[in-house]
This record gives sequence, C-alpha cells and structure tokens, in this order.
Amino acid sequence: MDKLVIEGGVKLKGEVSVSGAKNSVLPILAATLLTDEKCEISGTPNLHDTITMLKILRALGKNTEFKNSTVRISHNKHTNFVADYKLVSTMRASFCVLGPLIAKLKKARVSLPGGCVIGIRPVDLHIKGIKSLGVDIDIQSGYVIAKTKQLRGSHIYLGGIYGSSVLATDNVMMAATLAKGKTIIESAACEPEVEDLAEFLIKMGAKIKGHGTPIIEIEGVKELHGAAHTIIPDRIEAGTFLIAALITGGDITIKGALYKHLGAVIDKLRQAGAYIINSDHSIRVRRKTRLKPVNVTTLPYPGFPTDMQAQILSLMGITPGISVITEKIYPDRFMHVAELNRMGAHIQREGPHAIVEGARRLSGAPVMASDLRASASLVLAGLVASGRTDVSRIYHLDRGYENLEIKLQKLGARIRRGKE
Ligand code: EPZ
Repeated sequence: MDKLVIEGGVKLKGEVSVSGAKNSVLPILAATLLTDEKCEISGTPNLHDTITMLKILRALGKNTEFKNSTVRISHNKHTNFVADYKLVSTMRASFCVLGPLIAKLKKARVSLPGGCVIGIRPVDLHIKGIKSLGVDIDIQSGYVIAKTKQLRGSHIYLGGIYGSSVLATDNVMMAATLAKGKTIIESAACEPEVEDLAEFLIKMGAKIKGHGTPIIEIEGVKELHGAAHTIIPDRIEAGTFLIAALITGGDITIKGALYKHLGAVIDKLRQAGAYIINSDHSIRVRRKTRLKPVNVTTLPYPGFPTDMQAQILSLMGITPGISVITEKIYPDRFMHVAELNRMGAHIQREGPHAIVEGARRLSGAPVMASDLRASASLVLAGLVASGRTDVSRIYHLDRGYENLEIKLQKLGARIRRGKE
C-alpha cells in the first residue's frame, strides 16, 4: 500500500488548479443510466471513486471510455438492473444508481451500502422518497429490491434528523424525471453538486426547477436523451488548498475555484485571520494577521461543509487559543483527532464537539489515514509539523483527491509518495 512522506516547514507558494468535483461527477455518471444515448462528461477527475463508478456502469450495461478528463458513455446490448454488493460496498455513492435504474427499467436490485468510519450512513430517506413515487420496495439479504408498473409524481418531504440528504435528493430527483406527473421535493439538499446534477438532467431533457433551493419541482417526461456536460470545480479540494496556504503561512492562488461555492468556508477563514480575494475564477489566499481561534459548526449547504471539518480542525490545531468544532452532520466524524494528537495537537472529543487548545507547534510522526477527509487533515498537519510525517493507507485520499502530492510539490511542499 502507498503512503505519503512529508518534511514539514515549507510555506506553500504559487498557483494550483482544482479538479472537477467528485461529489458532482458520481451522481452525474449514474444519471447516464436514464438514457440509451451517448453522454460526454468533461472535467472528470481521475479518482479511485470515478473508476469504481465506471465499473458499476459497465456492469449495468454501459460502454465507458475515460481519457483526458473526459468520460464517454454509450449503451451496449445487454442491460442489467443489479448493482451488486462487492462494488456498492466499496463506494457508498453507488447507491445513487437506484433512482435511474427504477426510472429507466422499472426494476432495480441494489446492494445496501455499508456504513463507514464517519457514520452508519442510513438510506431511509432514499427509500422513503423512491417509495413515494409509487415503487414497491423490499429489503432482502442486504439488497434493495425495487419494482413498479409506473412511477408517479408526488409531493415528498425529504428532511431527516440531520437535515437534508445530498444523495437521497439526487436519487429521488433522477427517478422523478421519468415519473408520470409532477414531483415536489421539500427539504431538498441545496449543495452545488445537486444543482450540477439537475443542470445535466435538464440538458438530457428533464423538466426541473428550484434546484439549489430546498424546494425542487420535477415535471416528468417520457424519455431523456444523451447530453454533454462539464463538471463544476471541486469546492472541497479548493477549501483544502485554502487551508494548506494558511496552515503553512504561504500564499496560494487557486485557479478554477468558484468563490460563490465557498461562502461559509471563506467567511470562517477570514475570521481566523485569512486574507482571501476573488478574481475571475481564481481565489488568492494568505494570512492577513496571526491565526485566531474560531468556533465552527458543520451544517447542510450553504452552512460550513462537514467535508471541510477535518481540515479546519488541523488549522485550529496550530492556532493559539481555544476553538470548538461541532459536527452536526456526522457526529462521529473524528477519526483524525487521535492521529492529530499523536502529532502534538491538544484536541479533546466531547460527543459531537472537538475542543482544540492550539499547540505552539506539531511534530512529525507516522500516522494512519482512516477516511478521505481525515487523510487530507493529516497531510495538512504534516505540511506544518517539524520533521517527517508518514501518512499511511492513503488509498483513502486517492478516492477523492486527484494527484494531491503532485499539486502540493508544485507549491513547494517536500512531499513524496512511497510504499508502506
Ligand atoms: C454526500 O454524502 C457526500 N458524498 C459526502 O461527502 C458528504 O459528506 C455528505 O453528502 C454531506 O454533505 C457524495 O456526494 C458522494 P447525506 P451523502 O445523505 O449524500 C443522514 C466526501 O468526503 N442521512 O447528505 O451520503 C446521514 O447519515 C463524502 O466527499 C439519513 O439519516 O450524505 C448524515 O447524517 C463523505 N438518512 C446526513 O443525513 C438517509 O437516508 C447527511 O447525509 C441519508 C442520509
């Protein structure tokens, strides 16, 4: 297995480009199941999760081609409505093939996704939403067995105890595009990636409005056609680079990042002492003052994203003073705390809160990645720690960051990929 070896202490400087958004391309690839016609998706990041989703599409009857950040999808003869455990269990996002399959084939057999280290990851809202469209759903031997004679539009409240659900909104919105009549999704997720999926569906001929707001209306149509689309930039990768500049005391220009997708993150980082300016599709960031402690609570978009929680926790780990980071989306998403404390951070876990007493400095150490964003937080800590940090099990990182160590090397970081 691979690891990343980092010699900390370099102030990162220069320009970096963000890749396409992982959490946009995965549901958009699933949406190609809604048509037999050709689709072309540009700006696709070369990630482990992208490869996994393409494997699933091939198992479901698609031909796929992926080169130079463009995916071309076409239909081959056989059609399969089963998404099996060995693939779905490796990537939770693959559960969002349920909506397209039931809409296109009127039947689907999709493995329930496993939980993961950040939480049990239930799918009750997905089931509730798909059922409300007139679908019979049975759970048997770890699979969702779905069938329907005709999908019918309905008015669905999709909010859960943790607020809106991104992939449940995606699943229901995709299924509703081919339902008879109108569907209204209340308490829909407002994330830019949900909006991007809706834009792709509209290019395929779907009738959708209100995407990006908590109320989405879908008027069902008879069929969808092929389309071409370019994926939005990855706001979480961009946010990770914002913090890379601040944690090392550097000065970075992030090209291709969309300022409008990072409101809560930029606001919080400015409170923490950042100088951030936006200029035509680039964001420049450096420290304006010495770092100041901030309290953060993660919320559904447009709130502070849970996918940036581990990264800002690393930054607060070296910020003098007391910060409280509260995780409202995945209350157990703190696997990175123990590893950061091994590097000299002083973080105390109290339920959904992490109470941070900023350390004067961190020291490099061998640490272990546990999930995608925890991996990023350990890399960020290694960039500022004195001495060497070895981050092992970085297959977690490779799921969601394209060539991260190469991008960091170009900014001056002393980082290289090695073998464990
Ligand atoms: C998406 O996951 C993202 N993944 C996650 O990013 C992200 O953390 C999450 O949204 C929240 O923003 C993709 O888009 C591929 P949710 P998703 O349903 O849709 C609860 C990353 O690091 N819930 O919005 O699976 C759930 O437990 C990954 O890139 C239910 O209770 O998340 C959580 O507490 C990690 N019932 C909350 O809702 C359900 O049926 C939000 O989860 C579904 C979810």
